Amino acid sequence: MKKLETIEQLKKSIIELKHENKSIGFVPTMGFLHEGHLSLIKKARENHDIVVLSIFVNPLQFGPNEDFERYPRDIHRDEQLALESGVDVLFAPTLKEMYPHSPSIKMKAISRVDVLCGKKREGHFDGVVTVLTKLFHLVQPDAAYFGQKDAQQVAVVEALVKDLNFPLQIISVPTVREENGLAKSSRNVYLTNSEKQEAPQLYRSLQYGVQAIENGERDPFAIVQMISTYLNEHTSGEVDYIEVYSYPSLEAVNVLQGNIIIAIAVQFQSARLIDNIIIEI
Ligand code: PAF
Repeated sequence: MKKLETIEQLKKSIIELKHENKSIGFVPTMGFLHEGHLSLIKKARENHDIVVLSIFVNPLQFGPNEDFERYPRDIHRDEQLALESGVDVLFAPTLKEMYPHSPSIKMKAISRVDVLCGKKREGHFDGVVTVLTKLFHLVQPDAAYFGQKDAQQVAVVEALVKDLNFPLQIISVPTVREENGLAKSSRNVYLTNSEKQEAPQLYRSLQYGVQAIENGERDPFAIVQMISTYLNEHTSGEVDYIEVYSYPSLEAVNVLQGNIIIAIAVQFQSARLIDNIIIEI
């Protein structure tokens, strides 16, 4: 595995790989790798000659009161995991390398962003599309891999790729869960022991909603109510949102039909957790 820290090194490697006609699968991450990331690497490994992994905690996607400074980082552990999981190129640039000067161009995501996490995290997806635009240009992948846990991110990135005609495929990979159902996330390390006990209730509440749909419920409002009651009864966290939309367009629906996402966010004292389920009705 090659570990590269500069854009020049990365460009040189990509030119060589393109000359050799290698297909490139790209897994962009902010590091502190967990099984969710490893499942993306595994999928990319199955589909491509070369797997490029990036690790960069992107300040542009964090709000002023968010956890940029304390976001968990462990590059040595990540490097080892990347090596073991068959990554060919690890790109881990510094902040200065990615953003050497203040920007002359700003990107703004305007669709699919004013719901779910985007509603409260103003500018978050602008930061995501900015860093991904840079990374997609540099890595020139055939496909990029994202976790379905961040379903809104997948929807926004699909729109980015379509609008700006990036010649690559977006592949979304199912959420990896603990045995108790808790979605794997780098932020799970923030949870206290008692919050860890409660956190699996997020997924159970979603399953409860799905069960009601399977039993014939078609009113999105009724599903939101049921999940709200469930979460309030089973966790001490504060429900941030419970929302139901068409997917991936993320538009409100009056009747549940077609591809639907049920997404939730719960603020615990030490971490804000999100989860979702996408179902076809
Ligand atoms: O999902 C993430 O880890 C980040 O949002 C991404 C896609 C690596 C962009 O910084």
